[in-house]
Amino acid sequence: MSDNDKVNTGHHIEDKELIKNARKPVGELGHQILDRMNKSHEAMAQWGVSHFEVKKDSKILDIGCGGGRNIQRFAEQISENGRVVGIDYSDVSVEKSIELNKESINKGIVNVLQGSVSEMPFYDETFDIATAFETIYFWPDFINDLKEVNRVLKNDGFLFICNEAVYREGEMDKYDDLVELLDMKIYSEDVLKEYLRNAGFYDFKAFINYENEWICIIAKK
Ligand SMILES: C[S@@+](CC[C@H](N)C(=O)[O-])C[C@H]1O[C@@H](n2cnc3c(N)ncnc32)[C@H](O)[C@@H]1O
Repeated sequence: MSDNDKVNTGHHIEDKELIKNARKPVGELGHQILDRMNKSHEAMAQWGVSHFEVKKDSKILDIGCGGGRNIQRFAEQISENGRVVGIDYSDVSVEKSIELNKESINKGIVNVLQGSVSEMPFYDETFDIATAFETIYFWPDFINDLKEVNRVLKNDGFLFICNEAVYREGEMDKYDDLVELLDMKIYSEDVLKEYLRNAGFYDFKAFINYENEWICIIAKK
């Protein structure tokens, strides 16, 4: 394998063809990257979810659910009165999430659907919590996509965003290769808050883990 087949992700040097699948997992490499992300995002996800409470009857939507690990985590926290729904536009992500969560799906507390964040097949005011782990970089029409999330949240609901890449002035060179390969957008805390405000959210709480450069934001509807 030559250097042209490699990409600097900002953290590691990786195989380009594999990393391309982070945007929309397809085929065998899609399966591989989802298995990996279920493990490699675990520490960040555990840190992120420590900032909010899931109730036994919470109705939770996980957008861009990938390999389904966060669906599994939330399903362990709810009773038969709660629900976790995963949505992802990749058929491989949907397949993996269903495979990982089949017991909870059989119990009737989890559902996984294929679809885009831009147009979700849910009634207005369905969910208490919407989560987006490592996915907003790829949303095609960010402000309208946030409005669509706002639409499906209950009036006292909130959106939780968790990212391991944060925009910081003068420190973005390390992400150049990844941004070009994946056509991704890395947002700063301030820009995220501005978009969220424009989409109808308010009362933001942002948490930053400086050691790992993780950010999470909770925004109320
Ligand atoms: C980097 S993976 C993260 C997966 C998982 N949330 C995690 O933290 O491991 C990004 C996921 O978001 C999904 N995704 C990207 N854009 C999307 C969109 N516009 N609508 C729905 N899903 C999307 C991709 O298919 C992929 O499964």
